[in-house]
Amino acid sequence: MSRTFRITVKRQASASDKPYLQTFAYSCDGKITVADFLRELNSQDRIVDVEGHEASPVVWECACFQKKCGACAMRINRHPVLACSVFLKDAANNRGEILLEPLGKFPVIRDLKVDRSMISERLKEMRVWLTEKKTYEFDQSPDLQFQAARCMLCGICLEVCPTFGYNPDFAGAASMVKTEKIIDRNQDDSHLKEMCGEYRKHFFNHCCQSLSCVKACPLHLPLEELQAAANRQAVWKKK
Ligand code: SF4
Ligand code: SF4
Ligand code: FES
Repeated sequence: MSRTFRITVKRQASASDKPYLQTFAYSCDGKITVADFLRELNSQDRIVDVEGHEASPVVWECACFQKKCGACAMRINRHPVLACSVFLKDAANNRGEILLEPLGKFPVIRDLKVDRSMISERLKEMRVWLTEKKTYEFDQSPDLQFQAARCMLCGICLEVCPTFGYNPDFAGAASMVKTEKIIDRNQDDSHLKEMCGEYRKHFFNHCCQSLSCVKACPLHLPLEELQAAANRQAVWKKK
């Protein structure tokens, strides 16, 4: 059964411009995702909001449309999620209203698109890369390695983290996941020592164990298990 949704988007022309809200009406049975709605809205020849004003296409990011790339992370009704995993019918309240906002802990580029480059900059700073790679005998199970490799660096775990963004030294769960994967595969002892030190400095010493990241991760990665494995190698072994 078709109904009319009122989808409000927080818009901002650039990082220095003032944000404002703009609402669009959209009629359908609700069995399309927020990502599909944004794609359809932007494909219209003339986009008009509920007040009849002509609007520019909504700027946002996407790639896979199937929960694999992490690009479409945004806040839907204040909760950070992947837009391609949320259906209009599930997001709307009983008046059909839905609110779309950009992630709040990253600088806005335009509308729903944010700059998440700080995640990869942190990985570089924490020296998370491979020099000499082990091809066998991982310390952790291959399954845990596989789970760590699935992390899309979407930033949702950072958005909900009570420490990330408030403590400038803290790099958050995404860096912990990638560190765990690389520590397990790296054979170069001096690089390993540096990486373990960076992990303690930018993750272990500050994580308050709220575990908000565990609940929020859209891939349900075993973040507690990954953290225990990273601590085992980078803290308790004390490289
Ligand atoms: S751990 Fe989960 S929430 Fe965090 S960046 Fe990776 S996929 Fe996204
Ligand atoms: S356990 Fe809490 S403080 Fe630590 S990374 Fe997760 S959300 Fe952040
Ligand atoms: S578009 Fe790739 S995860 Fe949503």
